[in-house]
Amino acid sequence: MKQTTKKRGNAKHEDPVMENFVLRAVRLGSHAVRQRLSYSTGRLTRAAILGAPGSGKGTLSSRLVTDFNFKHVSSGDLLRREIHEESELGQSAAAYIKSGDLVPDTLVVDLVVNNLETSQPFLLDGFPRTIEQAKILDEHVSLNLVLNLEVPEEEIISRLENRRVHVASGRVYHLVWNPPKEEGRDNETGEALIQRPDDTREAIVDRLRNFRELTLPLIDYYDRKGVLLTFKGTESNVIYPEMKTAVEMWSNVEM
Ligand code: AP5
Ligand code: MG
Repeated sequence: MKQTTKKRGNAKHEDPVMENFVLRAVRLGSHAVRQRLSYSTGRLTRAAILGAPGSGKGTLSSRLVTDFNFKHVSSGDLLRREIHEESELGQSAAAYIKSGDLVPDTLVVDLVVNNLETSQPFLLDGFPRTIEQAKILDEHVSLNLVLNLEVPEEEIISRLENRRVHVASGRVYHLVWNPPKEEGRDNETGEALIQRPDDTREAIVDRLRNFRELTLPLIDYYDRKGVLLTFKGTESNVIYPEMKTAVEMWSNVEM
């Protein structure tokens, strides 16, 4: 997707009006507008991926990380690592996660925001999850791209009940759709896969309720800021090429 560029002004300059224009062009899929945009800015992507539990945030993030070399920061993976290591924070967070409740902001903010390296492109997954968290994040760094996944709820329960994860890396499998090469073992390390304790039907129902009540308002929050792109559907092989094109344009378009 890289094209030859005619430099216009300071490549590193970030212009919110231009950013909105580019996002509109990507949303509309306007070929003519895309053709007029020139490439290669070196602009830093500060992105987040939003979506219900089981919407595919982790699955699509892995592909984005491979293609764009973003630093992937998943609040859920960080929390699960803390639990695995039996740290103080992990011990405080474990009961909330198991029951499908959100972990208190103070714990998550400490873990994610205070450790976020903002001088390199990053992709947040699972954070922010409330308006309050988004406001705290804004005090540290403004996101310039929010990828929103819309997947029907009926699809979600079957996905989560069939999910297995490798805790150390966050790699995600699905028993039917994306099974590991060797049953119960991670493809890269051969270590054991687990079923997440919050992937029970009871916890999934709570997670979906929390998502509707606390996280959905973020869609409007980021839409108003002009940084939201929504992707609808159930097939990663259809959604991902669209997402990749959008992110390529977003990361490369010259300001
Ligand atoms: P977190 O780990 O963020 O969980 P989540 O948001 O509930 O999302 P999931 O990880 O369950 O789903 P996903 O969208 O990543 O889907 P995946 O790609 O795995 O958070 C866990 C908990 O930590 C929270 O409940 C909360 O307690 C706490 N927490 C985390 N962040 C917090 C915060 N900011 N504030 C407070 N508390 C916080 O896909 C799911 C399955 O579907 C997989 O098996 C996958 O293989 C499969 N799949 C994916 N795409 C497809 C497809 N197209 N077709 C078929 N199967 C597919
Ligand atoms: Mg995930």
